[in-house]
Amino acid sequence: MLKDLTSNGNSRDRNIRIRKFQTPQIPPPYAKQVEENLKDVKYKIAVISGKGGVGKSFVSAALALALAKLGYLVGLLDLDVHGPSIPKITGIRGMRPYAVEGKIEPIPLAENLKVLSLELMLDDVNKPIVWRGPLKSKAIIELLYLTNWGKLDYLIFDLPPGTGDEPLSVAQLVPEPRGAIIVTTPSSLAGTVVRKAVEFCFQLDLPIIGIVENMSYFKCPVCGTIHKIFGEGAAEEVAKVYNLDIIARIPVHPDLSRALDEGTLPSLILGNQEHEVTRSIIEFAKKVVEKTKEPLEK
Ligand SMILES: Nc1ncnc2c1ncn2[C@@H]1O[C@H](COP(=O)(O)OP(=O)(O)OP(=O)(O)O)[C@@H](O)[C@H]1O
Ligand SMILES: [Mg+2]
Repeated sequence: MLKDLTSNGNSRDRNIRIRKFQTPQIPPPYAKQVEENLKDVKYKIAVISGKGGVGKSFVSAALALALAKLGYLVGLLDLDVHGPSIPKITGIRGMRPYAVEGKIEPIPLAENLKVLSLELMLDDVNKPIVWRGPLKSKAIIELLYLTNWGKLDYLIFDLPPGTGDEPLSVAQLVPEPRGAIIVTTPSSLAGTVVRKAVEFCFQLDLPIIGIVENMSYFKCPVCGTIHKIFGEGAAEEVAKVYNLDIIARIPVHPDLSRALDEGTLPSLILGNQEHEVTRSIIEFAKKVVEKTKEPLEK
């Protein structure tokens, strides 16, 4: 039911109200098919940001790996149609998903982790997908109802930057999404843009699980001094304004950029428990588990 916002409603309430009137709805047949296909998936989580290059794909993949390491059944779906990077950072580029009885089988990445990206179905990964909105939405809808995830505890959606077709499709099509994780860096520019992602979630009644501050700091490997190389304060400010939690602070680390470039993120997260990055990711995943169990305010 709409709240009475005629007096001094805050920005969250105003946006919830706008959503009821402005958001185009997905045709019911697709919504039903997606609902049926995802009925055995417990928690669906979208990783978003208003800004590009802040580490959404890394955070999505690392979270999926860490949740799998904690023993959960996990799926990772790359919904970045124009700039998919999940196959590269997880080292599965070139693998081909196969179809069984009209459904797409995601690629098994670890014992309890499966991954799918549109890139894995392209003939030439170097050719761009040149699609306008409706075609893109159709591809996303098809991925959502044709992928055979089976039973999962968590399905993580990696999304492109901004608040366009892809996050809109997820927010509208995915039944009962558990919420969004918003990724930012400490810079004030990223903080400004990230507010748009927060407002987007409010407009679509998508609960926000929390904010991840990626590239938060650099710890000198020699003396242990912490350097805030990308500034500080932007994530705190957004969290304070919107009453959200910062659920992870992930350092900048050369081993991490190497792992992402070489497609060896799985071995860093699954195989190197003592690494500074792995430790922060496992803590982050535990926080997500804790948060998804508590009822979230929309
Ligand atoms: N904590 C980190 N330490 C070092 N390098 C990082 C870190 N996080 C991300 N990177 C690097 O930053 C770049 C962007 O990361 P990523 O692709 O995950 O961002 P994105 O937000 O998904 O980008 P896009 O908006 O293009 O989808 C990558 O080259 C990655 O190697
Ligand atoms: Mg990305």
